[in-house]
Amino acid sequence: MEWTPGPRELADLELLLSGAFEPLTGFLGHDDLHSVHERGALADGTPWPAPVTLHLPADVSPGDEVRLLDPEGLPLAVLTVSAHEPDGLTGGPIKGLAAPEHGPFARLRRTPSQVKAELGDRPSLAVTMRGPLDDLSEITATAKELGAVIVLLPLSHGEAGPAVVRAALRAKEQLPGDTLVVPVPLAPREESEIDLELREHVAAAYGATEHLAGPDPVRIPGPPHRRGLVVFFTGLSGSGKSTIARGLRDTLLELGTRTVTYLDGDVVRHLLSKGLTFSKTDRDLNIRRIGFVAAETARHGGLAICAPIAPYAATREEVREMVESVGADFLLVHVATPLEECERRDRKGLYAKARAGLIPEFTGISDPYEEPDDADLVIDTTHISIEAAVSQVLGTLRSGGWVR
Ligand code: ADX
Repeated sequence: MEWTPGPRELADLELLLSGAFEPLTGFLGHDDLHSVHERGALADGTPWPAPVTLHLPADVSPGDEVRLLDPEGLPLAVLTVSAHEPDGLTGGPIKGLAAPEHGPFARLRRTPSQVKAELGDRPSLAVTMRGPLDDLSEITATAKELGAVIVLLPLSHGEAGPAVVRAALRAKEQLPGDTLVVPVPLAPREESEIDLELREHVAAAYGATEHLAGPDPVRIPGPPHRRGLVVFFTGLSGSGKSTIARGLRDTLLELGTRTVTYLDGDVVRHLLSKGLTFSKTDRDLNIRRIGFVAAETARHGGLAICAPIAPYAATREEVREMVESVGADFLLVHVATPLEECERRDRKGLYAKARAGLIPEFTGISDPYEEPDDADLVIDTTHISIEAAVSQVLGTLRSGGWVR
């Protein structure tokens, strides 16, 4: 069987393979995880601070071999399953097939044993960093005192990764000439204490005799009018969401202060999602595609307007996460015009056909619509004009500072 792990899991895989997570030899199963949470050690008592997990949704059993692929399909490792939980959590030892060779600053990456060979028997001071180092004097002084080589370890996982490596390269210019810069794709752990302990373990794996943790980056998000935004309309067919979405698009284009990408449900199904049906699987795929494009738009500071039915709460939530994970904002607008009103209007004549059994799986008639409980704005168009609905959305964008 083959499987492509998620970005965080791939980052952990790289560290497992490189030896940066020694003494770990694979992903943790249930027993080890439990033990790590309870007492900061693996089930056999070896100290280890943090969860290192992999989820495999497919049915696998102990003893199975799973080839782990990178997103482009290159096999990176073989996992021998030793434990598999019903929720997908899978543990087991891994064997490396190929080193990940892509990504920004890939040429700077080195395994712990390469770094140790470079250091020889000189003592070293490792500095793990997730943001710029604003005070180099402490590092210089400590290194001098220890007679140590400085090894900057920018923790390069995620959106901010390349910026952290650039910060390390800038710092190197002002540090002694033999300072090393080695990017380490360590994803942050939720609890800061655990995160710090893990950083210490990784620093030790790279041969560090001493470790300093750089300051956590102060996150100063850009002003909302420069930040990416996804305005995601959801609602029944005929609820008015496309009409409001189009009105919003036009108004924004007239104002001219933001660029707009428009992803209406029916429009998307002409190209991006052409050929998809209205089964749950295909609807979910449709919404994920819309979410993907919207998140890419918002990643560059753009504003995307989406207007599909998006009947499933979990899938809408996935899109919210996709968007927020690139540092953009997500606004859910529920166009909550009741079914009776949508059916009374029946502008496309689809409800009549659905009632007559000519369209199977029709949302609201023979297919579910899960009402959002996390909408940022709810609009029922039964008694208000399109202009009024558009200005409600625009009002929200203005008061949130997204539009000036
Ligand atoms: S979604 O469920 O995948 O989000 P989407 O917004 O793309 O739906 O498409 C909905 C549009 O497709 C409706 O406005 C309607 O014109 C058309 N349509 C055709 N068949 C169906 C169906 N079975 N259920 C809902 N809409 C349908």
